[in-house]
Amino acid sequence: MDVKEAEKKAEELRSILEKYGHYYYVLDAPLVPDAEYDQKMQELIQLEETFPQLKSSHSPTVRIGGPPLDAFEKVRHDIPMMSLSNAFSEDDLRAFDRRIQQAVHDPVSYICELKIDGLAVALTYENGRFLRGATRGDGTTGEDITSNLKTVRSIPLHLREPVSIEVRGEVFMPKQSFARLNEAKENAGEMLFANPRNAAAGSLRQLDPKVAAERNLDVFLYAIADDKGRGLASHKEALSFMKELGLKTNPETKHCENIDEVIDYVNSWMEKRQDLHYETDGIVIKVNSLRQQQDLGYTAKSPRWATAYKFPAEEVVTTLEGITLSVGRTGVVTPTAQLRAVQVAGTTVRRASLHNEDLIREKDIKIGDQVVVKKAGDIIPEVVRVLTELRDGSEAEFVMPEECPACGSGLVRLEGEVALRCVNPQCPAQMQEALIHFVSRDAMNIDGLGEKVIQQLFRHHLVGGIDDLYKLDKEELLKLERMGEKSVNNLLEAIDASKENSLEKLIFGLGIRFVGAKAARTLAEHFETMDALRCASREDLLAIFEIGDKMADSIVSFFENQEAADLIDRLLALGLNMTYKGFGKTAGSTTSSLNGKTVVLTGTLENFSRKDAKETIEMLGGKVTGSVSKNTDIIVAGKEAGSKLTKAQELGVEIWEEAQFIEEANGS
Ligand code: IVH
Repeated sequence: MDVKEAEKKAEELRSILEKYGHYYYVLDAPLVPDAEYDQKMQELIQLEETFPQLKSSHSPTVRIGGPPLDAFEKVRHDIPMMSLSNAFSEDDLRAFDRRIQQAVHDPVSYICELKIDGLAVALTYENGRFLRGATRGDGTTGEDITSNLKTVRSIPLHLREPVSIEVRGEVFMPKQSFARLNEAKENAGEMLFANPRNAAAGSLRQLDPKVAAERNLDVFLYAIADDKGRGLASHKEALSFMKELGLKTNPETKHCENIDEVIDYVNSWMEKRQDLHYETDGIVIKVNSLRQQQDLGYTAKSPRWATAYKFPAEEVVTTLEGITLSVGRTGVVTPTAQLRAVQVAGTTVRRASLHNEDLIREKDIKIGDQVVVKKAGDIIPEVVRVLTELRDGSEAEFVMPEECPACGSGLVRLEGEVALRCVNPQCPAQMQEALIHFVSRDAMNIDGLGEKVIQQLFRHHLVGGIDDLYKLDKEELLKLERMGEKSVNNLLEAIDASKENSLEKLIFGLGIRFVGAKAARTLAEHFETMDALRCASREDLLAIFEIGDKMADSIVSFFENQEAADLIDRLLALGLNMTYKGFGKTAGSTTSSLNGKTVVLTGTLENFSRKDAKETIEMLGGKVTGSVSKNTDIIVAGKEAGSKLTKAQELGVEIWEEAQFIEEANGS
């Protein structure tokens, strides 16, 4: 065979394989037996081996995985990848509908989709060719995982029309593939993945695409990033258009004329979801009309035209075997329940935070108790209550120690706080947590430096404080377990690269009390240099709209502290950038969604006193009032919320659970 013939043959095989692949992986309706597909694929692989000039980044042979990478490139999302507001009950759904009806005056209909529990991805096609695929990352910047995504057989390498388009969806691992993968891992004595979602995420973050290729990942696409201005009138049309292009969309999607139909749809999946071959953790409800979507717009984090209903948490009973203590970044000592391992909503739960001593007393928790456990929002394990009737007298009372479990200095309870704190600034546990915070995504975002590695660095006394990170020695790192030449090089490069971060990342990373990621950005935008911020007086700070008394005091006292001042000098000497680079407006930089809002607090908040919650809201530009009226914008409802909540529901006021409030307060 000469090159010309080979080229013709390769073309032929590619077009056949793409067609077979589309029917098999996208439409779930195979045209030919598997063996025939495999045989054609082998033929093409052979041909490309013999005539390497035929190799192409868009040949179906890339499905078996291209060459490994050193690291993932960063990708900026011009259109931010946002998240969704949550609904947990029928009432929440009705409140969502009321908010929509108030803002939109013509009839509204909804599209309901399964909320796929996987990893969000953005796929870019140029003239119909798959150009790039990226993770969500922080919503503004993700990672380029194109070579891994090319191994996902249901992601077409070519669309059926030569359009340039960015689509978004969820990559997931089917339940059965997950079970098989964990079985193989168990046999090999390797660590298991906790759930299919982690398995999918872990597979897509492998630098070797061959590993991803073996993981049997799948995708459902649910949005066109820039659907407005394409002549489409509705989300339903956008989904059909994607399908026409050869993209895989979820077949269970339903068009509902009103909220009652939405609620019926939600209820119909409550049990049925267990029968699906992939995991779904809820239902996403989207306003169908794109014009109405545009009118409704977005909050800082999510579209107002959509919400995610989360299926109720599953409750299980297990034994509380012990209570351990951990020391956080700010010295707070938190008790954690050690539980007999139990499956809850798809993952194994072994521990749950008990938050503080008061809560242990309040819930009357003893060591050895049978307890009811659930996962809040299907994510965070929580001890709901004790089954006291099952006690046999062997249960032991928990006594909170008087000394810090990490450094032994006396614990104190600050006025108005439930927490016990270690106030020793040299406490090694606090330093370790401070470092974990410093490298985290919204702070310095140092890849390859997770919690485990930091713990390892501490254990081997390679770091004590933040500045030590920038003095790490390659030879010392190479001596550590599981640290090869390549990972050490990558790590040192990532640490070095972080020196160039814009100022807001460093400000947030320093962990100044009450200064969240959003406030850090505001401070950086306003003062532009660390020096200017350091010299700012309380009044200078208060002159900024978003900064309240509490934060201003905290910032001033942080910089007054000689140790902090020395740390900043050392970081400067190590070459860290201390100026604001001005990345322009992004999803993360918009002001708080509490800004200018009238807020009512009701019920018991677990993590805030009323006073703290009020100050936090004010700090973010909101106003707190005592009673619910038609002027109320948001109600933050804690445990045992009563008549105020009912009234807010009647009036269609936006309802936040404590978790959402915490997220906002943290500026995430
Ligand atoms: S729409 C503007 N539809 O849920 C946000 N999201 O918090 C558009 N997800 O990160 C998201 N299934 O990864 C949408 N049918 C679906 C979804 C879905 C899963 C994920 C998505 C997003 C998260 C929302």
